[in-house]
Amino acid sequence: MLSHCSILRKKIFITRLLVLGVLVVVVNLWFPGDLTKNKHILLQEDVRKSLIQPKPTTTSSTYKYSWPKCRKNISAARVPGFNSLPRHIQDFLYHRHCRHFPMILDVPDKCGGAEGSAEVFLLLVIKSSPGNYNRREVLRKTWAKERLQNGVWIRRIFISGTTGDGFEKKRLNNLLEVEQHENNDILQWDFIDTHYNLTLKQVLFLEWMDVNCPHVRFLMNGDDDVFAHTDNMIDYLKALTDNDGQRHLFTGNLMVNFGPIRSPDSKYYVPVQVYESESYPDFCSGGGFLLSGYTAHVIYNMSQSITLLPMDDVYIAMCVDKAGLRPESHMGVKAFGHRSPSNNDPLDPCYFSEILLAHRFLPTDLYIMWQSLQDPSLTCFDNNKE
Ligand SMILES: *[C@@H]1O[C@H](CO)[C@@H](O)[C@H](O)[C@H]1NC(C)=O
Ligand SMILES: *[C@@H]1O[C@H](CO)[C@@H](O)[C@H](O)[C@H]1NC(C)=O
Ligand SMILES: *[C@@H]1O[C@H](CO)[C@@H](O)[C@H](O)[C@H]1NC(C)=O
Repeated sequence: MLSHCSILRKKIFITRLLVLGVLVVVVNLWFPGDLTKNKHILLQEDVRKSLIQPKPTTTSSTYKYSWPKCRKNISAARVPGFNSLPRHIQDFLYHRHCRHFPMILDVPDKCGGAEGSAEVFLLLVIKSSPGNYNRREVLRKTWAKERLQNGVWIRRIFISGTTGDGFEKKRLNNLLEVEQHENNDILQWDFIDTHYNLTLKQVLFLEWMDVNCPHVRFLMNGDDDVFAHTDNMIDYLKALTDNDGQRHLFTGNLMVNFGPIRSPDSKYYVPVQVYESESYPDFCSGGGFLLSGYTAHVIYNMSQSITLLPMDDVYIAMCVDKAGLRPESHMGVKAFGHRSPSNNDPLDPCYFSEILLAHRFLPTDLYIMWQSLQDPSLTCFDNNKE
């Protein structure tokens, strides 16, 4: 009896298995397309997720994060004399049309969202390469400190690409990531950060700003080795009759009657294949200049129909020029390499207490000078004034 019973149970079990199996087969035969389609969708979703970075948390942001890799323009090599051009210029011509690169680091809420950005009075936009850690650290502690100054907000952002190959690139990207974690002040795109790609960096920033900080009032755009007297900048900008950033402002160290340097040995070499005309529009030296939010938008707008040119400051002036606007000269923004006329101290804090910006400082000099400027016991006499 027992064995009979167990055989019966086994039979029932096998029958159930069979029925289940048949059911599975039938379902599969009935809905084969649906099953494979779903699988396909799932796969696509996975691939998509792995390619697209998460959207920023602010709802106002529609900034696009992922771009297909920009292809080299092979026909660029047909330009007369291409083969005799230096490598970096050939490289520039091949990639001149590339304007979109994936973002590696972002701070979408830097200005408190698009709406909140009206509260930012001065946005410091500082061009920095990944390796310049010391410079960034000193700027964070000195003139680029984010703060409420004289009743208005100063915010800081470093703009960067990538440098190095393979392991070195990874190492430097990691450095920026660590800094970002601590300071939340870096925008990084995946393009090679070279002198010839500075215009690209500027255009990428302007596009980012248009989405994330559209109502910022003023911007200081400059290098990471300048001394910018941001306290004085605030005083100057606040004293303007219209200080809401809705009017044209583009001022700095004005460069008049310059043209492309045709000598291949120069860092600023621009051959005719890149820029034909022998003259540049008047421009503000890229070491540092001031812009209104309005003018930044105009530049971005115009840039969309102007071919990229390697000199970023000249390119910005071309955009301003196309809009029928002009750059201005501000005597507080000093020429390249300018130092205090004082004989015994080229870093005389009294001299620098009167200016807006000067170029080229060692991080240590900047640090010391900023500290002495903050010193309440610093007394300066009028003989420092011109
Ligand atoms: C590629 O280069 C050629 C030659 O300079 C130019 O005429 C063409 O417009 C370029 N294509 C793109 C997509 O920029
Ligand atoms: C600019 O960056 C792009 C993207 O990384 C790169 O392909 C190109 O070679 C760079 N151009 C120059 C002139 O460095
Ligand atoms: C530039 O600004 C003008 C006037 O506001 C506008 O009509 C045009 O669409 C803008 N162009 C771009 C490329 O944003």
